Amino acid sequence: MNEYKIKVSHPDERTFTGNENENILDASIRTHGGIKVGCKRGGCGLCKIKVVEGEIKHGAVSRSVLPLQEEEEGYALACRAMPKSDITIEDHSAAQAEKFDYIKAAMQAAKRAKEIV
Ligand code: FES
Repeated sequence: MNEYKIKVSHPDERTFTGNENENILDASIRTHGGIKVGCKRGGCGLCKIKVVEGEIKHGAVSRSVLPLQEEEEGYALACRAMPKSDITIEDHSAAQAEKFDYIKAAMQAAKRAKEIV
């Protein structure tokens, strides 16, 4: 099992470790990496990150919270992305959390569970 360094460059600098068998959000939770936690199923968008360096493997997500265009621009959902190398990311979860309606998101995530690809 390969272990990788996950460096956060925005909004503050911090580093934690993950591995190829663990999504970035679970690695953050395990190591107190600071990424905000939502549905953990790719359906709410709270854990949005941008990969600015390195490689990840995307998992299934709801396109209503991570449109393909955003994915092509480097965005990912930490709960559905696995590191494939050392990576540098921007953590947008705190900004997402400021405008987040948790009750509405939980209801929408349950609805979106049917549309996850
Ligand atoms: S925690 Fe909801 S999409 Fe990742």
